[in-house]
Amino acid sequence: MDRHQLAEDLTLRERRLIIALDGPAGSGKSTTARLVAKRLGYTYLDTGAFYRALTLKVLDAGISPEDDAAILQLAEATQIELQPYEDKNRIWLDGREVTNLVREPAVTNAVAPIAANPKVRAIMVEKQRAIGRNGGIVMEGRDIGTVVFPDADLKIFMQASLEARARRRQEELAAMGITRDFEMLKEEIAERDQKDSSRKHAPLTRAADAILLDTTQMTIEQQVDFIVLELEKKMQSR
Ligand code: CDP
Repeated sequence: MDRHQLAEDLTLRERRLIIALDGPAGSGKSTTARLVAKRLGYTYLDTGAFYRALTLKVLDAGISPEDDAAILQLAEATQIELQPYEDKNRIWLDGREVTNLVREPAVTNAVAPIAANPKVRAIMVEKQRAIGRNGGIVMEGRDIGTVVFPDADLKIFMQASLEARARRRQEELAAMGITRDFEMLKEEIAERDQKDSSRKHAPLTRAADAILLDTTQMTIEQQVDFIVLELEKKMQSR
């Protein structure tokens, strides 16, 4: 990083902006968001963790992911807290740390119908807004640029081919000691994308003013540079 770039980063740090990163599973959002936050001295927030934590509770309680009324009741009686920790988020469900548990495939495969419930979303969105309101945040999810912060300072919509996304997800799970068949993962990701994109409330969709970033052929470092550069451009044009 040269001196000029360092000065620009420091200016961005002081401005405490809101950066919204949306996109489908495996598009590289989490790693990129974390590193952008680290570079700017911002907080990183993984909004998917809220929906994952509730899903874990639903599964543990033996409630069907399709039982909207029971899920809402559960959501209202649930405490979910995200604690930014170093460049990650630690997740607490009713006082119990579930940071790793929420990444388990059983949770991943049950989350979409639960996240489709509009009343559940209202509860989660309120928590997310409360954390991001003062800016200095990089928030990633599916509806950040469209619903949570439609006035975000910068919106990026990340995309990548299904093959690339499944490969990344397989590597991520392998690092957690979980072995998954590639073709099966591809199918599961495609199915979840379809559910997330076609739901009635806050579907996964690119905001009209979001910049499209296709990460199929990009390294993480290139993605981070792209976003910081777009942010600088945007701030200069203001
Ligand atoms: O890490 P990955 O991309 O697989 O998923 P995630 O970001 O942890 O999100 C898990 C699921 O939560 C998504 O498939 C959506 O169903 C839901 N979600 C959502 O509806 N809205 C968000 N802002 C974030 C996640």
